[in-house]
Amino acid sequence: RSAGRLSEAALNRSLPPKKEQACRCQPLRAVQKTMAAAVEAPVLEAPAVDYKHSLLAGREDYDKMYKRSIEDPAGFWGDIAKGYHWEQQWEDDHHNHNFDVAAGRISTEFFKGGRTNIAYNCLDRHVQEGRGDVDCLLWEANDPGTDRRMTYSETLAEVCRLANWLRAQGIKKGDAVAIYMPMLCELPIAMLACARIGAVHSVIFAGFSPESIASRIQDCKARVVLAASAVKRGKKAIDLKSMVDKALDVSSKEGFEVKKCLVCHNASSGSGKEVTHMKDGRDVWWDTEIPSQKPESEVEWVHSEDPLFLLYTSGSTGKPKGVLHSTGGYMVMAGTTSRYVFDLQPGDVYWCTADCGWITGHTYLTYGPLLCGATNVVFEGTPTYPTPARSWQVVEKFKVKQYYTAPTLIRSLLGSGNEHVTAHDRSSLKILGTVGEPINPEAWKWYSEVVGEGKLPIVDTWWQTETGAHMITPLPGVFPAKPGSATLPFFGVAPAMVNEHGHEIQGPGEGYLCIKQAWPSTIRTIFGDHDRYETTYFAGFKGLYFSGDGCRRDEDGYYWITGRVDDVINVSGHRIGTAEVESALTLHPKCAEAAVVGYEHPIKGQGIYAYVSLREGEALDDALKKELVMTVRGNIGAFAAPDVVHWAPGLLKTRSGKIMRRVLRKIASKEESQLGDTSTLADPGVVDQLLSNRP
Ligand code: PRX
Repeated sequence: RSAGRLSEAALNRSLPPKKEQACRCQPLRAVQKTMAAAVEAPVLEAPAVDYKHSLLAGREDYDKMYKRSIEDPAGFWGDIAKGYHWEQQWEDDHHNHNFDVAAGRISTEFFKGGRTNIAYNCLDRHVQEGRGDVDCLLWEANDPGTDRRMTYSETLAEVCRLANWLRAQGIKKGDAVAIYMPMLCELPIAMLACARIGAVHSVIFAGFSPESIASRIQDCKARVVLAASAVKRGKKAIDLKSMVDKALDVSSKEGFEVKKCLVCHNASSGSGKEVTHMKDGRDVWWDTEIPSQKPESEVEWVHSEDPLFLLYTSGSTGKPKGVLHSTGGYMVMAGTTSRYVFDLQPGDVYWCTADCGWITGHTYLTYGPLLCGATNVVFEGTPTYPTPARSWQVVEKFKVKQYYTAPTLIRSLLGSGNEHVTAHDRSSLKILGTVGEPINPEAWKWYSEVVGEGKLPIVDTWWQTETGAHMITPLPGVFPAKPGSATLPFFGVAPAMVNEHGHEIQGPGEGYLCIKQAWPSTIRTIFGDHDRYETTYFAGFKGLYFSGDGCRRDEDGYYWITGRVDDVINVSGHRIGTAEVESALTLHPKCAEAAVVGYEHPIKGQGIYAYVSLREGEALDDALKKELVMTVRGNIGAFAAPDVVHWAPGLLKTRSGKIMRRVLRKIASKEESQLGDTSTLADPGVVDQLLSNRP
């Protein structure tokens, strides 16, 4: 119980049961309640927008392509993949998959036998086709007035230099490299350099605590870390290197040594190099090591199924999972969704506000747009700093054509005055996108009417870290939108809506959202734990990938995502496992037990509500609340800090010892009139105690 990393015991306690029971889903009854609420919300009509898609004339084109993509995935994706460079052609029977645990090992293969390189396809291909002088990265610093432009040729040269340096450190194909950087051009460059040499990158969002960094580095055994000195987010300067130092100390104590840490000095953070601690022999500066490297480097041609990256994400149980994506299928689906959903064409100025620390920044900042030859805005700051007008200043400055963000940002902007938006020229905008959480009608309306002046299509894209790319999404100008609906499946995606017995529901209805067959960017495994992969995603419903989300399908076949049905909460579009927050809270010596649930939050979508029961003789005063919150911040990261801490004399357990989260959720949402049946509680009196001592 020493302060520090989540203890093994704590982790094991919350590891998922073996195959027999896959998901800790909320019963469909609870899901239907949420859906009913969503359905009762005022239904908005989307304005008719006049947008001509450059590849699809209309619904008929989509229907025809969709049908072929499902009936003949190998042929469909094979034809699309020809648009990319393959050093070696794939085999005829390149596409195989098994989603049925009873039939053997779960697996997905696309373009088997083919060899390619995604970084080559993102950069060299465009340079060779004469687009080397096109802007590749447009960087905007946290503070207005500082920016940077890099063409495709310049980006390629920088990627090659870093690739050469990585090779000089002994990094080879298949080795993991950890990246802990803010949104500088060097972050996508670092990812592409790894991809160029066949190394597997593991980007850790530069907001995770040293404990989280350490556990990720050790899980994937990264011997090299690419880091940055510091970052300014809004007014706040954050020393990132000291976080890495602490993480590497923790790792070292646990017997894992990182050999080299390359540190990019971020001048825009306001701090000089001299304040950054550098450990002799381990830490070196980017600007002394990289410029002297050769600007060309050999491409490592990797097999289509060789791993491209690992990205850790939270599940309903246990420690974060290293989601592994492989190369060929991911490349083709990232490029194709970007091309169709954003109608991206070479030279289009495109801005995705996500951080590369999350999947959106991988697929729709680094890889997808560059595969399309687009000009990519990389924004270091927060979109509301120094004023809520910042996003639209950047749109005006760079003449952004496609803008992709999260509902949480839209909600935070809509209350701060329309003049921040309307004062800026947004005539360059053609497509607006959202991702990460269900978008509420009010936010959709504001985005459409105020930002888009009722003229722009909105693409509400549903997908996940595990799916790698868009799954259910509008295609602009191809079929009408419905506010709040992610609409129809993308090519190659076969959704199934099932009831709790795994029976597929046909036509309109409500259920759990599953996928029936592999799509090119299917998660290939959980790094180091294929069993857990099978249990988490495939054991729940026979022959299906289970997303963890609930959904409704209407009479037009449109999908309405209603949110997670497991113990994952979605805070500002960031996925947080309640089990992780609970484990972190119980690291505090005064906390005996914790139960964490989500509740509706006006800006964040969901907030984190923590019930804590304390050790004998302890009382929850403000100081202890603060300490508990700090324990979570220190162990996971600031974004996982509980919004509410509620003292619970007992945790509402059933007689068999199971926490009744359903009731805890109701109390957190102030819906005590709908507590439902509490007769199986070991001590029903706890309910009244909880209601009477609300924080
Ligand atoms: O609940 C869904 C929600 O975000 C979850 C996936 O989170 P993550 O892996 O972090 O990836 C986020 C970015 C793709 C999903 O299970 N989600 C994502 N997009 C939407 C959404 N919920 C509703 N509508 C969306 N468009």
